[in-house]
Amino acid sequence: MQPTVLHDPAAFRARCEQHRRAGHRVGFVPTMGALHEGHLTLAREARRRVGPHGLVAVSIFVNPTQFGPNEDFSRYPRELDADVARCATAGVDVVFAPAADAMYPPGDQTRVRVPGVAEPFCGPFRPGHFEGVATVVTRLFALAGECVAVFGRKDYQQWRLLDRMARDLLLPVEVVGHATVREPDGLAMSSRNRYLSPDDRARARVVPEALTLAVNAWARGERSVEALRAMTEAHLRTRVDSLDYADLREPTDLGPLPAVLAHDDRAVLAVAARIGATRLIDNVVLGEEPAPISS
Ligand code: PAF
Repeated sequence: MQPTVLHDPAAFRARCEQHRRAGHRVGFVPTMGALHEGHLTLAREARRRVGPHGLVAVSIFVNPTQFGPNEDFSRYPRELDADVARCATAGVDVVFAPAADAMYPPGDQTRVRVPGVAEPFCGPFRPGHFEGVATVVTRLFALAGECVAVFGRKDYQQWRLLDRMARDLLLPVEVVGHATVREPDGLAMSSRNRYLSPDDRARARVVPEALTLAVNAWARGERSVEALRAMTEAHLRTRVDSLDYADLREPTDLGPLPAVLAHDDRAVLAVAARIGATRLIDNVVLGEEPAPISS
């Protein structure tokens, strides 16, 4: 079935409310479009959680406030018709595709910040990014109302930040992080992978390789945070065009870790690197997730 496409925020809000009044749950997947299998997996997860009579909604909005001045806002792919067709294959009921001035009404001033979770990893490299994400997702949650919202763990920091935000603001939203969907060679699926040239695409495998080295070292008993960080960085440093970070943090609110972890601790190892002009991010939770590349 083709999803209903709604552009008007009031119509989207009414559709979600109507479903809840009928006793059904709402599953919500916020996106910026250019949908790929990773997004469709999130929509299927939303369906699994709300059941056959629940409402599965996907929003498609390229959010201007989360892009820096030298980032790819203007060239970010916009392909609504193709995205709606992709949503149809994943059983999505509603696609909400608002205009920019519907999400940012004239005179708009309000911003949402989650300073602690936004601070490490991408924080210093993308100033204002997480404020833009938190602001637009607060508005999307205000429209969707009580729901289960599903995000990809590829954007681990974003997922943790939005979970923190929903809990801090007492929003009636259950924020769920779903496992990263990977290409057969281990590269995490991302709308930005399409920017990679064929050569760069082949080189991009070093990102899941670096994470895999750390997962394997963890499995052999390595618990020194610096040793795990350094081996990840060493693998990437000479193989990518530039490395923003390879860093480990506590997995919930991304606080700092002790120098040496206990055997059954968890840690999120996250990396951001540029290959050609494309910035790739990826992560793995050590002690919880399998290696991105299985041997
Ligand atoms: O992950 C994304 O696509 C975006 O950051 C989100 C959560 C839809 C907010 O614009």
